[in-house]
Amino acid sequence: MSIKILLKDIPDYHKIEVYRQHGGYETIKKALQKSPDEIIEEVKKSGLRGRGGACFPTGLKWSFMPKDKNIPKFLCINGDESEPGSFKDRQIFEFNPHQLIEGILISAYAIGAQTCYIYIRGEYVKWIRLMQKALDDAYEAGFVGEKMRETFDTDFYTNIYIHRGAGAYICGEESALMNSIEGKRGYPRVKPPFPAQYGLWGYPTTINNVETIANVPAIIKNGAEWFASIGEPKHPGTLLFGVSGHVNKPGVYELPTGTLLTDIIYKYAGGVPGNKKIKCVIPGGTSMPPIRGDQIEGLKMDAESLKQVGSAIGTGGIIVMDEDTDLVKVLARITKFYWHESCGQCTPCREGTGWMLKILNRILDGRGTSKDLDLLIDVANNIEGHTICALGDAAAWPVKFMIERFRDEFEARVNKSIKIDIPNKVHSMRKTVIPLNEIKINDN
Ligand SMILES: Cc1cc2nc3c(=O)[nH]c(=O)nc-3n(C[C@H](O)[C@H](O)[C@H](O)COP(=O)(O)O)c2cc1C
Ligand code: SF4
Repeated sequence: MSIKILLKDIPDYHKIEVYRQHGGYETIKKALQKSPDEIIEEVKKSGLRGRGGACFPTGLKWSFMPKDKNIPKFLCINGDESEPGSFKDRQIFEFNPHQLIEGILISAYAIGAQTCYIYIRGEYVKWIRLMQKALDDAYEAGFVGEKMRETFDTDFYTNIYIHRGAGAYICGEESALMNSIEGKRGYPRVKPPFPAQYGLWGYPTTINNVETIANVPAIIKNGAEWFASIGEPKHPGTLLFGVSGHVNKPGVYELPTGTLLTDIIYKYAGGVPGNKKIKCVIPGGTSMPPIRGDQIEGLKMDAESLKQVGSAIGTGGIIVMDEDTDLVKVLARITKFYWHESCGQCTPCREGTGWMLKILNRILDGRGTSKDLDLLIDVANNIEGHTICALGDAAAWPVKFMIERFRDEFEARVNKSIKIDIPNKVHSMRKTVIPLNEIKINDN
């Protein structure tokens, strides 16, 4: 029987009375008997890594928060969940909101945060309502806010507020998220300083993903060793895999890290409609490098195994594409998303995403040349690593790796005899991988 930490098979578990019948809000009591440092140590030992995309060790992140008790500190829970292919945090809002709230209380105690925000994407109207209902119930029962002092006989208390996003993907980036909460435009900040030094309103702040924090009560309740023994040792626990695309049973499946990708697709998600072959899989949301169908056999779904095949686990959003998928169209659609969502602060991201989209549209229109493929990779290389935030990399990687890994398909879509139509000569003359003497400028 597979282990369920987050999405339990218990009817009505989202209701506070059912959650309490199963030991809910008992772990915060246990946590408050320990010191904040002991909680941080326990989470460090458990090996919990962030579920928001970068897999950063959670206990280590918490340890960066200053210990000074006389300054305000904040905890932000990131439920922006706007990466295409990612739809797992909303399962927690819907089916296990109280475990998330209890996780927030324990985490806030560990880092000394007196105020916590749950940042939820604006389009998630239903889930904002469900989460607000759970929070109201928890306040009423005295588990959150000032009443905590009486309920748990403690000096510590924290308040939790739900902050609704307004539909921008960039507000999932942790520093843009903080600007958004402050009522400013959702621009990512230059780092350093990092949020633990200079966060919300300039005060120490920790930002964690919803799924990350929802794991915390189970770790404190059952112990670090228990959690560390689940799944792959270097990336332990379960993951909420969101499976979409060409599968018979799309959905969210909670499975231990290290589960075979083929098991997720065929055993849990019911295989590919019409038993077609798989051409491509994006393993962790659209910003993660895609992998070829012939790479998936024996591939385990955890951070380290995916690194070995040149990809990353990201948010665990698996997008399956069958043999009939038009990858040029897919890449153009993904690129359009990042172009649209770029906040525009950095030139490489603001301009580069638009250039890549124009080139891909040219190829889709049948006016592309094989030199366009190198040009796309060149533009992607000039974005990657040259921007304020990781949206630049998120836009560059799909282009770079999709073309590298499916070059045949892209070559088949371009016309080798066509002249390159370069509308902007100034940009076209910069050094690229195309030797300049090979470029025929079509002046019209
Ligand atoms: C453009 C962009 C969008 C992001 N969107 C999200 C998001 O929706 N949810 C999330 O948890 N992290 C998102 N992140 C990652 C956050 O910046 C941050 O690393 C994460 O919330 C930390 O949580 P964790 O340590 O628990 O994984 C995004 C990052 C970037 C660059
Ligand atoms: S990389 Fe893109 S989204 Fe990020 S700060 Fe720069 S312009 Fe904005």
